Amino acid sequence: MSAASPEPLLEIEGISVRFGGLIAIADLTFDVGEGEIVSLIGPNGAGKTTAFNAITGYLQPTSGEVRYRNRRLTGMKPNQVAGIGVVRTFQKTSLFAGNTVFENVLIGLHKAGKQTLAGILLRLPGMREEERRLRAQAQEVLEFIGLAHRAEELASALPYGEQRLLEIAVGLAARPEMLLLDEPASGMNPAETVAFMKMVQQIRGRGITILLVEHDMRMVMGISDRVVVLNQGVVIAEGPPAAIQRDPEVIRAYLGSGAARA
Ligand SMILES: Nc1ncnc2c1ncn2[C@@H]1O[C@H](COP(=O)(O)OP(=O)(O)O)[C@@H](O)[C@H]1O
Ligand SMILES: [Mg+2]
Repeated sequence: MSAASPEPLLEIEGISVRFGGLIAIADLTFDVGEGEIVSLIGPNGAGKTTAFNAITGYLQPTSGEVRYRNRRLTGMKPNQVAGIGVVRTFQKTSLFAGNTVFENVLIGLHKAGKQTLAGILLRLPGMREEERRLRAQAQEVLEFIGLAHRAEELASALPYGEQRLLEIAVGLAARPEMLLLDEPASGMNPAETVAFMKMVQQIRGRGITILLVEHDMRMVMGISDRVVVLNQGVVIAEGPPAAIQRDPEVIRAYLGSGAARA
């Protein structure tokens, strides 16, 4: 896909983020093309989550800007960013542990629509038609992600790997055009990770563009069209997986020293 240089969908242009005296990301620039799977990798503390936060409105960069379909995301609030189709998941779980799997997906759907959350969960009168539609959509998302059989269980009762899948389902329920996944496979066992790689490819098959932060190098190298490597807030390499794997600076900073799990 990347060979044909798809139109840039997301453009990150020279963004920097400081926390007091710490420069967490410095002059970060890269694009994600429509329909691509791009991975952002680098050691712990490299600035990957900070980049996600700056893209999705959770923090404002000190300088630079982010554009999506030529529209400025910088300055928008997280819900506005999600509303135009750029949806992210979190490195740490953001599920509602005391709600069921199905309700968690409904909450994700709520973010995409006008329906009030209280209306959905309490089934207020006059919301029947809308509720039926949302419930059908939630069911469809759960079937796609493979958790339909868990619908009525509490989110907290799921094994960890399935909780990670549920987070993706909640993100998908918001009907993204673009999905940013922050270490989605962390805590998955090897079999779950292999299944999850196929899932990410199926999500892309639905026309959803993906920006992935992930430490599992088999996954990153197996599914990415392009890889961007961050080290101490700075891009040190960018290119297709094969080129990244033999880049001397990447090996020195990250892939060397047994760092498949940096
Ligand atoms: N809210 C914050 N306040 C202060 N420092 C932060 C904050 N968030 C992240 N950092 C620091 O910024 C750097 C990048 O962190 P982060 O983006 O979480 O890295 P990564 O996701 O690549 O592991 C780290 O040094 C981290 O300690
Ligand atoms: Mg992180």
